[in-house]
Amino acid sequence: MPATYPTASRSSDMDPLIEAARDVLDDAHVPYSEYRVGAAVETADGTVYTGCNIENANYSNSLHAEEVAVAEAVKNGHRAFDRIAVTSGARDGVTPCGMCRQTLAEFADGDLPVICDEGGGETSEYSLGELLPNTISEGTLADADRTRSSSE
Ligand code: THU
Ligand code: ZN
Repeated sequence: MPATYPTASRSSDMDPLIEAARDVLDDAHVPYSEYRVGAAVETADGTVYTGCNIENANYSNSLHAEEVAVAEAVKNGHRAFDRIAVTSGARDGVTPCGMCRQTLAEFADGDLPVICDEGGGETSEYSLGELLPNTISEGTLADADRTRSSSE
């Protein structure tokens, strides 16, 4: 069967959530990759939290922009997200990496809109479900628990 790829819907409307993500690019700490990433999550009550990537000399300790935005929202008591926007200093259509997709799946359903900055005032919108069709969830762990106890 041929592989299927997510299909984005393109838009050239200026989205305030993309603007919020762009505003945080200056705060990115990127001495190693020099690749700035900004993210903004809109919570169910309309509050917006932003995050930027924060790199570390021990590369794998680096925090991704989406993780920082989600952490900021959750720390402030929000666990229901309506949308997320992601941009990069290169304005190159950056999408959340696999790890960040799974981080988002902890708090959002597959229909979460993921808005990605394409540059030139253009955005692409994906759903989280098409970016990450199979998530690890609480249900996955519960299933594993059942399998374990039924074989004991
Ligand atoms: N990065 C993010 O902040 N979010 C992603 O999902 C993709 C990658 C950051 C990590 C690193 O600081 C830089 O982009 C290059 O990979
Ligand atoms: Zn990531």
